[in-house]
Amino acid sequence: MRFASRLKEVGESATFRYSALAKKNKVINLTIGRTDFDTPSVIKEKTKKAIDEGKVHYTPTKGIPELRECIAKKLERENGIQNLDLENILISTGAKQIIFEAVMSIVQKRDIVAIPKPSWVSYESIVKLAEGSVRWIPLKAENGFIPDDDFLSVLENSNPRLIFINSPNNPTGAVYPEKIIRKIVDIAERKNAFILSDEIYEKIIYEGKHFSPGSIYENTITVNGFSKEFSMTGWRLGYAASQNREIIDKMNLIQSQTVSCAVSFVQYGAVAAFTADARRDVEEMVEELKERRDHIMKGMKDTNAILVKPSGAFYVFPFFGGDDLKLADGLMENGVGVIPGSSFGSSGRGCVRISYGSASEEELERAVNIIKEFIAEIQYV
Ligand SMILES: Cc1ncc(COP(=O)(O)O)c(C=O)c1O
Repeated sequence: MRFASRLKEVGESATFRYSALAKKNKVINLTIGRTDFDTPSVIKEKTKKAIDEGKVHYTPTKGIPELRECIAKKLERENGIQNLDLENILISTGAKQIIFEAVMSIVQKRDIVAIPKPSWVSYESIVKLAEGSVRWIPLKAENGFIPDDDFLSVLENSNPRLIFINSPNNPTGAVYPEKIIRKIVDIAERKNAFILSDEIYEKIIYEGKHFSPGSIYENTITVNGFSKEFSMTGWRLGYAASQNREIIDKMNLIQSQTVSCAVSFVQYGAVAAFTADARRDVEEMVEELKERRDHIMKGMKDTNAILVKPSGAFYVFPFFGGDDLKLADGLMENGVGVIPGSSFGSSGRGCVRISYGSASEEELERAVNIIKEFIAEIQYV
């Protein structure tokens, strides 16, 4: 049978593949893009109540007004994004679906999409599904994976229709300073390009301050969700907002012809994410994640790896050199699951992504020892 040619260049998500392998091999699993915390109980209780009350039917395609109102207020209060009517908000089944809808709405054959390298694995695949052309904009480990002048000049010359920003970043944990984001916005404005700002790790920041380009540029699609902040990866709930109502309406058109709407009772439950109780749970989680980050940084100190201290998210992205696929496979055989860095673009070659979101300090310690022994044996760096 013949299948659509647009699938030819799209591979299975490396993170899901290595995660499944780590589970199968019962190794210390540092592949996972989630935390091991439970969803805050206020959200669970509100969701159960919604089911009991019979909130089990289709909702408006953009999402229930109560939740869109909470999101609009949050974005105004915490992110400085003003003038958001409820129609400027779209709720969907996870940030991934939102990103898919945004790309499908903007990108057509051969349109250029600028993606920083390294980046989360799905950006490239989604652009390929839309038959767009990816222009990688390289970041450097020695610059903490923060965009520098070289990055800005490559971006300037790439003439993109759409620019991806992801801060805090997966896989590097970098948090972009406001002045850098302003420079990227300046380029987008002059090139008349959209910005897709993926802010899913917004609340998992240890040092530095989050800045939303949507507060200064109306053609920004601000993407966020509940997966990471509230440990709700399985609930499938994310959202987009833009001062440009047209892009939200286009995305909603795709939504109405695909998933229809996010799950009804999940939306009602998520209203409780905007309460003080849920916030307290998130703050406790971030404190614990920071301790894990510091623990792993301390453990890795006496390796030869180039290791940038991540200011956010729950990943470290050390550079060991050599073939990162072999490195990840070798570590898997020796008892630790990590993701090869090149899965995030060629700037990730020689790196591995280590997630400390779902491992205890004791597991991290054992994993770091195995990594050190393995590296010493093969002497990559
Ligand atoms: C940078 C980034 N964006 C988006 C997502 C997708 O999140 P969701 O579970 O809301 O689809 C992930 C998940 O790993 C991510 O790391």
